[in-house]
Amino acid sequence: MAQQKFISISEAMKQGKGKVAVRGWISRERGSNEFKFLVLRDSTNIIQCVLKRENFQKQWDEIDKLQVEASVELKGAVKEDKRAPTGFEIQADEINIVGLSDKFPINKDLNEELLGDRSHLWLRSRKMTSILKIRDTVLSAMREHWHKKGFYEYHSPSLMGMQAEGGNTLFKVDYYGKPVFLTQTWQLHAEPAIFSLEKIFTIQPAFRAETSKTSRHLSELWMAEMEVAWEGFDYIQDDAEEVIKHVVSKVLQERKPELEIIGRDWKKLEPTLNKKFPRISYDEALKLLKEKKKLNISWGKDLRTIEEDRLSEMYDTPILVRHYPKIVKAFYMKEVPERPKGKEVVYGFDMIAPEGYGELVGGSQREDNIEILKKNLKAQGEDLSKYEFYFDTRKYGSVPHGGYGMGVERVISWICGLDTIKDAIAFPRTMTRYYP
Ligand code: 4AD
Repeated sequence: MAQQKFISISEAMKQGKGKVAVRGWISRERGSNEFKFLVLRDSTNIIQCVLKRENFQKQWDEIDKLQVEASVELKGAVKEDKRAPTGFEIQADEINIVGLSDKFPINKDLNEELLGDRSHLWLRSRKMTSILKIRDTVLSAMREHWHKKGFYEYHSPSLMGMQAEGGNTLFKVDYYGKPVFLTQTWQLHAEPAIFSLEKIFTIQPAFRAETSKTSRHLSELWMAEMEVAWEGFDYIQDDAEEVIKHVVSKVLQERKPELEIIGRDWKKLEPTLNKKFPRISYDEALKLLKEKKKLNISWGKDLRTIEEDRLSEMYDTPILVRHYPKIVKAFYMKEVPERPKGKEVVYGFDMIAPEGYGELVGGSQREDNIEILKKNLKAQGEDLSKYEFYFDTRKYGSVPHGGYGMGVERVISWICGLDTIKDAIAFPRTMTRYYP
């Protein structure tokens, strides 16, 4: 094709009439003796293109054989056509075949496992393209929220000499012959930085060697975390609510077409914008589960998926469950004072999504008493010498502080209404998959 300025498919549709030159990949094709209909896709949209045989006598053999996913450049006249999939059609008068395609190995009948084997190709689907755009909006909204409040983006290492979230989900790595772990959270290396920057956040990968195969667990996830100096438990919960509201609001402003492509009933997200998220205590959660869902949980047990799901059925916004028993939570969470013995609880919360999407956020006020930190770690069988650097955060000008971590893919999964968290990330890593 002669020197040409290409425009995107959505620009061509905006133009609506006259000559255009576009390029992309064939997402559907059908033909007859006289015509070839190609649905062309690029990153912005899809458009139907029609090629008349009489205009392509020399190239017809090649055009006739074009398969889905071949890449082409195409020039022609665009016009509105209500029958076409996106309301526009290009009547082509030139085509340049850039790359032929073998028979594309993705079709509607593939099960989750086979799709997983082909995740590098599944990325091209309209569904994944839409989810990846929503993911981009989610991440930029998070950054925008924290930057607006004066937070700095700060990063922690991925290779760790100690655990933070319990020893059961650690990935061991051989580090020049010594065992180290992939990070489960930035937290222990974030707390030292609040003495420098005061308000910080990150969005970075975290690793959990989860042994449960569920629709909401990944082994490698992205975690958005914040840590803040001088603030208490209420600030941390308020901020978690604000960031979720901002993310949902941005997605609804900018990504409704994508939500519609993936079939998400986005009206279900509106209460999240308009209502305050209920905040209930762990004790109240047990009472509600008993009274409304006939679930008897003995005090001191963590809430499992089933209990979180039953709770989420009672609300149309995320909820915050707080003051969990100390024994089920991480060693760094601050104890609520003057609780009866055996009933100790912590200033910690989980935010649970509506519609059964599970825990979106986990956060807490941090324990500032070194002796309590040591006692908690000892009770978990930890070697205290590995945590000396962390104890220093409480030795040199300790201040009240806290933060939380938000599972990026959990948030995307809920916002998009996905059946599995695996579609919230390009190459999901799970207990049974690390390829491709
Ligand atoms: O509740 P978690 O374990 O909290 C922490 O790691 C804290 N140190 C964070 C902090 O205070 N800075 O994890 C935070 C969130 C969870 O609420 C969940 O959304 C997500 O991370 N998450 C996972 N998402 C997908 N797959 C997994 N295996 C996940 N594990 C945690």
